[in-house]
Amino acid sequence: MENFCALVLAAGKGKRMKFKTPKVLCKVLEKPMICWVLDALKEAKIKERCVIVNCDSDDVKNAIKDENVSFITQKEQKGTADAVKAARGFLKDNEDLDVFISCADSPLLDCTTILDSHELHKKLKADVTIITAKVLNKKGFGRIVRDSNDDIIKIVEEKDATKKEYEIDEVNSGAYWFKTKSLLNILDEIECENLQNEYYLTDAIDVFFKHNKKIIGFVSKNPNVVLGANTGLELLKINEIARKNIIEKFIEKGVEFVSTDGVLIYPDVNIGNNTVILPGCVLKNGTTIGENCTIGPNTLIEKSKIGNCCKINNSQVYSSVVNDFTTIGPFCNIRPNSEISHHVKIGDFVEVKNSKIGAGSSISHLTYVGDSDVGKNVNFGCGVVTINFDGVEKNRCEIGDGAFLGCNTNLVAPIKLGKNSYTGAGSTITKNVPDEALAVERTKQVIVENFSKKKLAKRKLKVEY
Ligand code: UD1
Ligand code: CA
Repeated sequence: MENFCALVLAAGKGKRMKFKTPKVLCKVLEKPMICWVLDALKEAKIKERCVIVNCDSDDVKNAIKDENVSFITQKEQKGTADAVKAARGFLKDNEDLDVFISCADSPLLDCTTILDSHELHKKLKADVTIITAKVLNKKGFGRIVRDSNDDIIKIVEEKDATKKEYEIDEVNSGAYWFKTKSLLNILDEIECENLQNEYYLTDAIDVFFKHNKKIIGFVSKNPNVVLGANTGLELLKINEIARKNIIEKFIEKGVEFVSTDGVLIYPDVNIGNNTVILPGCVLKNGTTIGENCTIGPNTLIEKSKIGNCCKINNSQVYSSVVNDFTTIGPFCNIRPNSEISHHVKIGDFVEVKNSKIGAGSSISHLTYVGDSDVGKNVNFGCGVVTINFDGVEKNRCEIGDGAFLGCNTNLVAPIKLGKNSYTGAGSTITKNVPDEALAVERTKQVIVENFSKKKLAKRKLKVEY
């Protein structure tokens, strides 16, 4: 959108958050808080976005992979107004625009709130529009102080509030629209006469009021958008709200949840209509799931594409593709770079890695398929193992269409099994097998008569026959 720019304050030390990670990089559904804010601004089409960082900001800069975001350093952390002063040059460059200023620790602030509050700001020709909300738990927030005409006269920080001000339930989100020029004009009038000896950006309101400037409150109908995370507990609460928001969005689109216990769906996930997500599923970013699937219980999928009508039960899938009508699980691990075709059955305790599995194939139990190209309609007996690693290099197994591998076959790669070939149960196959052939590799069976008699005499039995 034309006509505005944004400043995100992220230089604070985050002392109340007892993690080593900088506060603004603490994650909500695996995405750093500051990235939620910057993404909402991007969605609102605010191109000019500038982040105020402290001197120790390499991690923050590295986490923000967006070439349209610039950075300014606030050398000492002397408060939110001081952070804005550090960006005086940026504000001067944009002095004819409106500037949106927000904290980096309010990840639930959404694009709609940003745009709707700007509408109001423009319509009422305000010098400042404060995004506020009425909340039940107002702990830690600045309170919005209004006069008898309901006009905002100041924001008072909780620590500096009188008993009466403390009880006010309308709070400051820490996000505002300013006419940039109006803000520049009063920046130096903000003082630090408060309990923390900090320059509060919230005091701009008081100064505006004294100059008869227009102060407007945009009261958000959804109180959650103003929530900030200063402590680990607040971060957990925000994670929980973000989790519910995403699940509700999918329910509206026709995804079914019987119970949402333990279900975590990250922001960059797509799920098709009529798919059921059972408890305990974690669906990480970069995952797409088709229609009519049943996922879970207790399944983790990351950076993968699952087709339609698939079932994945108690399993994990990483960076792989699974096509229509395929079933996986229970207890399977599909490791990166696997491509499982349609109508495949992968049963219990199977690991697949960097392999292609052709349509209609069946790998039902206790099998390892690594670095392999498996054709169509291949049947793996229980306990087949591809021996893909010789201690130095990984080698591939090529298994032709219709091959039938007996139980406990070992395939020593590199190796090629022909179309419709068979292996005998318990064979260790080291040489290529032609099409239609059977390969058996095991010693002849030996019978030692009456072998157990002597042993039985010494054996202690737990129960009598
Ligand atoms: C701030 C507001 C409060 C509001 C709340 C909403 C002030 C004085 N108070 O309080 O009214 O209700 O947010 O969440 O503004 N920062 C800097 N430089 C500094 C200090 C802070 O860049 O010198 C950044 C922080 O990294 C953070 C943001 O400013 O992203 C807000 O600072 P924080 O200490 O979290 O303020 P709150 O106490 O939450
Ligand atoms: Ca905060």
